This record gives sequence, C-alpha cells and structure tokens, in this order.
Amino acid sequence: MLVAPSILSADFGHLARDVEAICEGGCDLVHVDVMDGHFVPNLTIGPVVVSAVAKAATKPLDIHLMVENNSFFVDLFAPLKPEYISFHIEEEKHPHRLIQKIRSLGIKPSIVLNPQTRPEELEYLIEDLDMVLLMSVNPGFGGQKFIPSVIEKAQKLKALIEKRNPNCLIEVDGGVNDVNVKELEAAGVDVVVAGSFVYKHPEGIEKAIAALK
Ligand code: DX5
Ligand code: ZN
Repeated sequence: MLVAPSILSADFGHLARDVEAICEGGCDLVHVDVMDGHFVPNLTIGPVVVSAVAKAATKPLDIHLMVENNSFFVDLFAPLKPEYISFHIEEEKHPHRLIQKIRSLGIKPSIVLNPQTRPEELEYLIEDLDMVLLMSVNPGFGGQKFIPSVIEKAQKLKALIEKRNPNCLIEVDGGVNDVNVKELEAAGVDVVVAGSFVYKHPEGIEKAIAALK
C-alpha cells in the first residue's frame, strides 16, 4: 500500500518541519489539499505556501484540487511540478480536455469522485487517467468519519480499470486508519491518503505510516 499523508493535519506554524517528518517517516507521496471556499466550505493554501512545501519535501507532491475553475488552478500549481493533480469531476464541464492539459504539462492526471458519484462516470475517461481518487468523506475537512460505501465503489472501479487501463491507480481519501485500510487493500486500492491518523498517532508519524503499509 502506498501512503500519502495529508498535510491538512500538519501544524501550519511548523509546516516545513511537518513535511520533512512524513518524508523521513517513509511516506510515498505528500498529499496537498487545495480548497477555495467555493467548491467546499473551507479555504486552505495556494501556490505561495505549496512552493515552500515542495522545497521541504523529498517525496513527490499529490495535489488534490477542491475548487471551482480547475483549469486556472492547474496553471497555478503546474510550475511546482507535482507528480499528480486530481480534480473533481462534479466541478468540471470538460474533464477530457482538462486531462489532456494536465498531461501536456508533464503531470499525471487524476479524477476525484465525491461519495455520491458513480464510478460509471469514468467509463470513457479511464484510459486517459493515471489515478482515480475516491472520497471516503465529504471533501472540506480533516478528521471526519469514513463512509464505508467506498469499499463497494472501489471494487466496481477496479473491475473497470482491469478491463480498460490496468496501470491506473486507485487512491482513497478521508477517515482512513489501520483498520479500514485492510478492507481497502482487499478491494484493490493502491494508495491511501491519511491526515489525522498519521499526524495525530500516539506513537508518532513513522509508526503510523508503517501501520498503514
Ligand atoms: C478532505 C481532504 C483529506 C483530509 C484527510 O477534504 O481531502 O485529504 O485531509 O484527512 P483525514 O485522514 O483526517 O480524514
Ligand atoms: Zn485530499
């Protein structure tokens, strides 16, 4: 299992330190939650702060856009050379076009599905994606409760991926811990995002990442 800790649960007064801690603690990707106060009822960080994150990180960035006007935000973050940019299909009129744009910038494209969105939406997009991100909470905040229907959705998506694009990864985000990670792995999930589980683990960040793996 690949682990992408979400820096939303970091101490923003010591952001570089907390980014270094997950990289030294064995994470695979650094998950960055970008919220605009419109698509979701919360507001986080833009390219100025994320460029400081990129400097501190020794692992690739995994940028999760929770915004209106995706294309504008892709332009803002592309110079930071993230490994992945994920955008919500619920907020994009031209997902196919945006996938091509992200790829043309040398970044791996990924689409996010909210808890209610059907995996069938991806039937004619999956061949062009490097990853699909399934939300297991409603986007906007860390520390929420895991929505178990994501397990069945991951199984359905896995079947589609096996048929059409076996190289595409499945990532799950929200309320992930060392118990539900086992079910996620059995369902075919490749990457888990974890914020509070990693940053607030009583035995520390390294132990938390190891537990998820
Ligand atoms: C929610 C974010 C998540 C969140 C995960 O909108 O996309 O990445 O930070 O935090 P936990 O693991 O605490 O649910
Ligand atoms: Zn996220």
